[in-house]
Amino acid sequence: MNYLFAPMEGITGRIYRRVHARYYPGIGRYYAPFFSPSGDHHFPLRGLTDLLPEENPGVPLVPQLLTNRAEDFIWAAASLLDRGYGEVNLNLGCPSGTVTAKAKGAGFLREPEKLDAFLEEVFSAPALGRLRISVKTRLGYAGEEEFPGLLDIYRKYPLDSLIVHPRLRQDFYTGPIRPAAFARALENTPFPVIWNGDLFRPADLEALLRRFPALDTVMLGRGLVSEPGLARRMETGEACSRSLLQEFHDALLEEYRAVLYGDTALCHRMKEVWSYLILHFEGREKYWKRIQKAKSLSEFRLAAQAVFRELPLLPDTDMAGLAAQPPV
Ligand SMILES: Cc1cc2nc3c(=O)[nH]c(=O)nc-3n(C[C@H](O)[C@H](O)[C@H](O)COP(=O)(O)O)c2cc1C
Repeated sequence: MNYLFAPMEGITGRIYRRVHARYYPGIGRYYAPFFSPSGDHHFPLRGLTDLLPEENPGVPLVPQLLTNRAEDFIWAAASLLDRGYGEVNLNLGCPSGTVTAKAKGAGFLREPEKLDAFLEEVFSAPALGRLRISVKTRLGYAGEEEFPGLLDIYRKYPLDSLIVHPRLRQDFYTGPIRPAAFARALENTPFPVIWNGDLFRPADLEALLRRFPALDTVMLGRGLVSEPGLARRMETGEACSRSLLQEFHDALLEEYRAVLYGDTALCHRMKEVWSYLILHFEGREKYWKRIQKAKSLSEFRLAAQAVFRELPLLPDTDMAGLAAQPPV
């Protein structure tokens, strides 16, 4: 099985990716959180830094673009091609209200004719001739019945792959997963189709493969942030090692410390990661509160060390706890 790391804005930036790749090698591709190209065709320093090859050593990286303007996509994708990237991904899944209100992300799925014209322009752009373009999509905006029409559009173009998060925009990340609708994507699609969604345990992958035995690539997001060794465990059965997890965690903290200014920013970044990591520990409630309350690096360190020292690891991440988890 080929495992891809899903983009997660606020978490899987360059530092997270390179530390993950160092401690948990074996991920086929890391998809960067979306970059929104602006109409003035200028890369802001922050967006650019995240994608610089020298900032992503050892990371097979695919940049992702969020836009509904073909000329902006072509400009940004051509610049990424110039910087050595072979694949660029189009985000057609982001459910955030501020994004969909502008008809971007999952909001673009509501305008299939415009999406078709966008893809036509992008795939005929001479500047992008050698670039592989993949799409990350949901099944539709408001109803599963939108998906066959969207598939007809995708199939008109030489996509490198189609990554499907089998939910609607209105499902956000916790509504029902819809495998029956996903099955349509596997029929007569001339490019690889990749499943992305709710793979939190090896048993989830096994159940998926019983249903769709031909799948050879999956994309993991929240499950992999909760258990950074999940892909390896899925592949080899090798249990999650507490000492490796702590080494990974400490390296991540050190690398963030080198670039983030001040304890507040550092604690905030680490709490985002912990909001997932903590789901892999038994009896987490008090410990998670202590992490959340940490205001300084020393408070945070003590709270994190207490988890590693005192809490047993769960055999599988308790993803059911995600909905109950208070936000950071
Ligand atoms: C906090 C957060 C940030 C995300 N950021 C992005 C993003 O930048 N681009 C994108 O395509 N998807 C983004 N996603 C969606 C994930 O890539 C993935 O599709 C989703 O979490 C479902 O996969 P999972 O069940 O394996 O987590 C984000 C999801 C979360 C929870």
